[in-house]
Amino acid sequence: MPVTIKSKREIEIMREAGKILADVYEELIEQVKPGMSTYEIDQIGEKLIRKHGCIPECKGYEGYPAAFCVSVNDVVVHGIPRKDVIVQEGDIVSLDTVLSYKGYMADAARTIAIGEISKEAQQLLDVTKQCFFEGLKYAKAGNHLNDISTAIGQYAEKFGYGVVRDLVGHGIGKDMHEDPQIPNFPQKRRGIKLQPGMTLCIEPMINAGDWRVAFMDDEWTVVTDDGSLAAHYENTVLITDGEPEILTLK
Ligand code: MF3
Ligand code: CO
Repeated sequence: MPVTIKSKREIEIMREAGKILADVYEELIEQVKPGMSTYEIDQIGEKLIRKHGCIPECKGYEGYPAAFCVSVNDVVVHGIPRKDVIVQEGDIVSLDTVLSYKGYMADAARTIAIGEISKEAQQLLDVTKQCFFEGLKYAKAGNHLNDISTAIGQYAEKFGYGVVRDLVGHGIGKDMHEDPQIPNFPQKRRGIKLQPGMTLCIEPMINAGDWRVAFMDDEWTVVTDDGSLAAHYENTVLITDGEPEILTLK
């Protein structure tokens, strides 16, 4: 599939979608407290998305049962919200969702701290977020995709972290997942040349330990193979003539 270049009109809508998602996260994260189930977190999040007149696109996507992925500690991504998974002080919780507004998608993920967390956990959150910004430095017209991938992977490895290889970032637009795929580690090929109007989800998934992950029998939940903590940070980004525009951050 070709990589789509968005028109001015499409970009306007995606900007609005992104802004709404940024608001949803602000409102949701404020409400997450120790003792809450991941099911409750999803319920609150879904209501916020609908309150803004948007559609929670994960719900029903390839059979996924919820609006959010809520992934606790060693769950890397795609944790299914459950009434019997209670978030506790000291946990790290990754939230990931996609919403649509007027037919266009916005996708973002945040890993948050529940109360006081260990120094090690905090460093993992900080580095994972910074991985996104390291990649973003190269999200400019004329650069190649692999410039982003390499920057992310090299930054994470400085800290001895494992960069998840089985899951990658992606293009986005009318569809949740469009070409190109955006790995978080260096590739042999330089990949496509970036052009203004491309909208990309850059989403480092970083393990405190080894890079290997395991896929659970529920067909969704992805955990670190070694049981170490994992973090995820994602935004939808617009490639422009100049600096990239982060659509899902205010
Ligand atoms: N942010 C995730 C992704 O990039 C959303 C997938 S959740 C799913 O692909 F449930 F919709 F699969
Ligand atoms: Co994504």
